[in-house]
Amino acid sequence: MVLVARQPVQTRLQASAGRSAGLVPTPFLKWAGGKGQLLDQLTRHIPSEFGTYFEPFVGGGAVFFHLRPQRAVLSDSNPDLIQAYEAVRDDPEGLMSALDTFRGRIITEELYYSVRRQNPRNLSALARAARTIFLNKTCFNGLYRVNSNGEFNVPFGSYKSPTLYVRENILAASLVLKNTELHVEDFRESCKAPRKGDFVYLDPPYDPLSKTSSFTDYTRGGFKEQDQRDLSEMFRELDRKGCKVMLSNSPTPMLRELYRDFKCMNLKAKRAINCKGIGRGAVDELLVVNY
Ligand SMILES: C[S@@+](CC[C@H](N)C(=O)[O-])C[C@H]1O[C@@H](n2cnc3c(N)ncnc32)[C@H](O)[C@@H]1O
Repeated sequence: MVLVARQPVQTRLQASAGRSAGLVPTPFLKWAGGKGQLLDQLTRHIPSEFGTYFEPFVGGGAVFFHLRPQRAVLSDSNPDLIQAYEAVRDDPEGLMSALDTFRGRIITEELYYSVRRQNPRNLSALARAARTIFLNKTCFNGLYRVNSNGEFNVPFGSYKSPTLYVRENILAASLVLKNTELHVEDFRESCKAPRKGDFVYLDPPYDPLSKTSSFTDYTRGGFKEQDQRDLSEMFRELDRKGCKVMLSNSPTPMLRELYRDFKCMNLKAKRAINCKGIGRGAVDELLVVNY
């Protein structure tokens, strides 16, 4: 009888790093608050073993793509964003063909606003995902902001020749997303699913350092003080369940108080699209872990 060793249930970061020998994907969208600049510092604090990886505020997914966990559940309250992830996961070739309709065209203000005016509800899933990626790469600073009707309202970005996608990156991202569940969900819902031993990375919109400074308009209604308080309750609940939890946010007095029972660290972040609205350059980032 041949005994076959069973695959360990746990994700081991060393093992997962070698999972796809090809290109390590990077986010296929520019995203405010993206963690690209912080990856080295963040990964030092990520547990080396865990069950399923959960990211309830996935945004551009810089940490997810960097880790390439074997099993993951990604969520965000932004339906356009999650739908773009689904297109990358399920039909990367179709998505790239849809994006190729813009190939060779000069990205003028007129073209940008004509795409922005399209009603996404009248488009196929692929055309809608292509529209999201097109607008993200050609709008001002890659911001995502909607008006009170939920319509995307970021102005034109005036880039000379923006790259809409890199073929190898989309294919590599698609591969990493294959075993990944995707959900359009509020964090209060997505934080219910993790079980003991799972790892949850929380990267919510920043708590403003001053009343006028912050970019928190990712979705209608923004992200308010009560949301930050609810999230700290979810953090405690996940901790009680035996999950490993890591949260990044701005180092405001309110957050230090909310997370005072956990290990709090200061990281230095360099950001191009600055969610804290205090210009570019190095800013402090609060990192909280329960392990
Ligand atoms: C700071 S960004 C995440 C950045 C991400 N870590 C990255 O590397 O790009 C915050 C994300 O939270 C999402 N968001 C805002 N309010 C939310 C809510 N109530 N529930 C879930 N996601 C929400 C936004 O759509 C946005 O994508």
